Formats: sequence, C-alpha cells, structure tokens
Amino acid sequence: MQSSICHDDAPRLLQLKQDEIHLWCCDDTQVKDAALLQHYRTWLDEVELGRLRRFHFARHRHQFLVTRALVRYALSSYLPSTGPAAWRFGTNDYGRPMLAHPGMVASGLEFNLSHTHCLAVLAICHSGELGVDVEYHRRPCDATLLSDRFFSPLEARQLKALPESQQRQRFFDHWTLKEAYIKARGMGLAIPLSSFSFDLSAPGAIGFGVEPEAGDRGEGWRFWQLRPNATHKIAVAHRAGESAVMTKLRCLQVVPNVSIKPVDYTVFNSTR
Ligand SMILES: CC(C)(COP(=O)(O)OP(=O)(O)OC[C@H]1O[C@@H](n2cnc3c(N)ncnc32)[C@H](O)[C@@H]1OP(=O)(O)O)[C@@H](O)C(=O)NCCC(=O)NCCS
Repeated sequence: MQSSICHDDAPRLLQLKQDEIHLWCCDDTQVKDAALLQHYRTWLDEVELGRLRRFHFARHRHQFLVTRALVRYALSSYLPSTGPAAWRFGTNDYGRPMLAHPGMVASGLEFNLSHTHCLAVLAICHSGELGVDVEYHRRPCDATLLSDRFFSPLEARQLKALPESQQRQRFFDHWTLKEAYIKARGMGLAIPLSSFSFDLSAPGAIGFGVEPEAGDRGEGWRFWQLRPNATHKIAVAHRAGESAVMTKLRCLQVVPNVSIKPVDYTVFNSTR
C-alpha cells in the first residue's frame, strides 16, 4: 500500500560522503499508483517521453518510467535545489548516460543504472569510475555454452570445474561482475569480454586481472556482489579518483517520491 504518497517533488536532502557509494534499489512492481506514475511522466524530458512511447509492451513502458523517475529523484535528493524534472542528460560515444548541463556536472555526482525483471538499481558516488549490474538469476541459461562464448578461458575453466548444480549461480556471478566492469569503463561491449577475468575460486573474495586488449592496467578497482533478494544478484565496480578511496556501500530501498528505506543487503563477495 502506498499511503504516504507525496507529490511535492521535494526530496529530502541525503548526504553522500566522499567514501560512499549509494545503491538505490527499486522493485518496480511495487509502484502501482496511477497518479504517482502520471506524476513521474511530468519529470521526463522530450527524449525520454519519446523512448517511453516507443515501448511495445506495457511492462517495459512501466519499467522505463520508474527507472527514469528513480534516477531523477535520487539525483535531486543530493541536490534538492535541482528538482527531478530539471536534470538534463547526454551520453558518451558508447551510450553511457551522464549529466549534460555544466552546473549539474559540477554537482560531482557519478551514476550508473541497471534494470532487469522487477528490479532497478542505481549506483551513485562522488568520483571515479562506477558501474552496476543487476541480473535475475532464475532465468533459463546454458551456463557452460555461454561461458565458452563470452568469458575468459580462466573463468570458463573455473566454472566447468564446479559441480553442475553450482554452475548456473557461478555464471551469474561472473556475468554481473563483467557487466559492472564494462559499464564502469563506460564502453560497454566495445571491451572484449574475454580480455579481463574474475577469479572467484576463494570463497567470499574477488580476484581481478586484465589482458592488454582491455585497454586498462587493471589497478585500483574494487568490486562487490550483493544479494538483494532470493532471485537477483547485483555487482558493483568502482575505481576511485585520485582524491578519494571508496570503501562503503549503502543500500536504499526506494519508491521514488514516496519512500526511502536503508537496507542491509548481504555482500557475499568483494575485493579484499
Ligand atoms: C548496454 C550495456 C552497457 C548494458 O546492458 P545490459 O546489461 O543489458 O543492461 P543494464 O540494465 O545492466 O544496463 C542498461 C543501462 O546501462 C546504461 N548504459 C548504457 N550504455 C552504457 C555504457 N556504455 N556504459 C555504462 N552504462 C551504460 C544505461 O543507463 C542503460 O539503461 P537505459 O538505457 O535505460 O538508460 C552493455 O553492457 C550490453 O549491451 N550488454 C549486453 C549483455 C551481454 O551480452 N552480456 C554478456 C555478459 S557475459
């Protein structure tokens, strides 16, 4: 029930410390109020409204609308003087959304978005390279076939050495980490997925290595994996800028313009 719906567009001010990454998680199936959804539409710009109209299926339209509201509402929570409708976005050459207006860039907010079946996750921090991926791990997949096709030889080898019953979960562990990394780099699939490797052989730990084709020395990265519920996995990749070392993740369960609740999701893997 959404009894506390507010339509005043006045997010309360949240503090984002230099050593924090905030993860805004929104289960879009919980956002049902027609007036609220209509209100989200008033925040969108022409480009977003155009994309919204082009979705064929209502559930994709719904997810898109909620994710746009999530991004706009979250950003305004750190800078309430800029209302949710005021944010302007551009993209880099690889399609990564970023703040477009010089005044907004000066806010020093970095963000990255991921969405899948029922769940949207937005990562926000003050500096560095930041990427996030969320996957629904109940979906059918042929873990060994896909790992042969997309993973590095080390990753595929480690996955196949596991008992069959564990291969599927390991596949999603690798997948989310790989996506989070290429998204943090901002280049998506322009980075060959086999040119970097995650070593998940030690329980709870994440090892990382790169080949020259990845175009990165591979230093300074931190990775985390979280379980927000029984059906999804989240991976976060971050490389701090020179001025700060990011160490803490804070998770928030959110319905934009309605509620923000701190939550403790289990971090089941991380770099040491
Ligand atoms: C587009 C891509 C960056 C992410 O795609 P994805 O995992 O399907 O989708 P996600 O929900 O995690 O991320 C999509 C969001 O990432 C952001 N994004 C788009 N391009 C991006 C880029 N180059 N860098 C960082 N973020 C990007 C956008 O906000 C996008 O959402 P929006 O279009 O609604 O604004 C890219 O990695 C891709 O196409 N991946 C294909 C999936 C695949 O084959 N994976 C194999 C892994 S083993």
